[in-house]
Amino acid sequence: MRMMGGDSIAILPTAVSCQRNRDVEYPFRPDSNFYYLSGFPEQDAVLVLVPERKHGEYILFCRENDATAEMWNGRRTGLKGACDLYGADDAFPLDDIDDILPGLMENRERVFYTMGLDKAFDQRLMDWLNSVRDKSRMGVHAPAEFVALEHPIHEMRLIKSRTEIKTMRHAIKAATAAHKRAMRTCQPGMMEYQVEAELLHEFMQAGCRDAAYASIVGGGENACILHYTENRSILKEGDLLLIDAGAEHLCYASDITRTFPVNGRFSNAQKQLYDVVLQAQLAAIDKVTPGAAWNEPHEAAVRVLTKGLLKLGLLKGTLAKAIKEEHYKKFYPHKTGHWLGMDVHDVGDYKVDGLWRCFEPGMVLTVEPGLYIPAGSPRVAKKWWDIGIRIEDDVLVTRDGCEVLSRGVPKTTEEIEALMNG
Ligand code: GLY
Ligand code: MN
Ligand code: MN
Repeated sequence: MRMMGGDSIAILPTAVSCQRNRDVEYPFRPDSNFYYLSGFPEQDAVLVLVPERKHGEYILFCRENDATAEMWNGRRTGLKGACDLYGADDAFPLDDIDDILPGLMENRERVFYTMGLDKAFDQRLMDWLNSVRDKSRMGVHAPAEFVALEHPIHEMRLIKSRTEIKTMRHAIKAATAAHKRAMRTCQPGMMEYQVEAELLHEFMQAGCRDAAYASIVGGGENACILHYTENRSILKEGDLLLIDAGAEHLCYASDITRTFPVNGRFSNAQKQLYDVVLQAQLAAIDKVTPGAAWNEPHEAAVRVLTKGLLKLGLLKGTLAKAIKEEHYKKFYPHKTGHWLGMDVHDVGDYKVDGLWRCFEPGMVLTVEPGLYIPAGSPRVAKKWWDIGIRIEDDVLVTRDGCEVLSRGVPKTTEEIEALMNG
């Protein structure tokens, strides 16, 4: 509210609940910005900030208590709960918002609101604005300026507080247990989704009700599909398994990838490529330190990966040329990481004034290089086919460097083989 100024109003609805099929809804997950400011977990809610309003600055519109509705569809926080449990100064029934909100907008100069996310809500906001404009002959001033609400919130979300880091550690701990369980239980002949079940088991045992995103459990050729989520194939002897899975805790994500042999032993070719990716990841993590620029870890990873591909004969020519002409992109088409927080691909600008942003303490990012070599890749020896490897950790920028928050998941081939073989 201090950033907005006293002549403003902010309006922020939570996410819209989505239908899955007849009489069935997808599990509801609040909008991240809404939850960041309110902690309010229920659907059908709108947060309004009215700085310097005498009768209360922080208002929640939400569902009223209703014995019959709650008997059928679950408990509701209600208006009193919105104030007592979530710190709202005032709470009103969402059904009354059309009558109340225009009054709150009167004589405010600026509306902080993010347009374009929800067409139906955008239209309602225009209707409220017009009803304020209609009162101009009565001396009421209508807001003249619209400001995207997301930008100031995203800048706040980019730097994590101690409480947020603690929450993320919880999500990461759950994912750590899950990846270790997958390594322990994986056997040739299992279905990929059976390994996914082992992951979900650990998430929930650790107090995380949901995954932060659809888990990627891809064996052999499926490991070469970057966003593979079908998880419906049988795991084969001799193949690698790539698991990219993270738990969500209080709307904060973890995002971890490990790649390991289905039968517990890396083949020579698998180990050679794995060590290239591992060295690239360690070189990238080494660049995560306050003052270093966002692209430095990626450039370090590209250099090590390209060197390794040349050494193993997967690329030809000189290192300088292979980097400059981006030959490595054939096997490494993505970037080395992203911000991590409430959203797995979290908010926050990557460039400021056209330059890559520098790391600051409290930022959390992933470092996740990989190599993907589908069968039939031209001019690639058969021994490399169907190998897909990614190694992904969650990294906190600290005052003097960084902390790998997900370091508890085995990462070297020796550590992985030791865990898998008891
Ligand atoms: N799980 C998505 C990612 O690693 O970015
Ligand atoms: Mn991931
Ligand atoms: Mn990631």
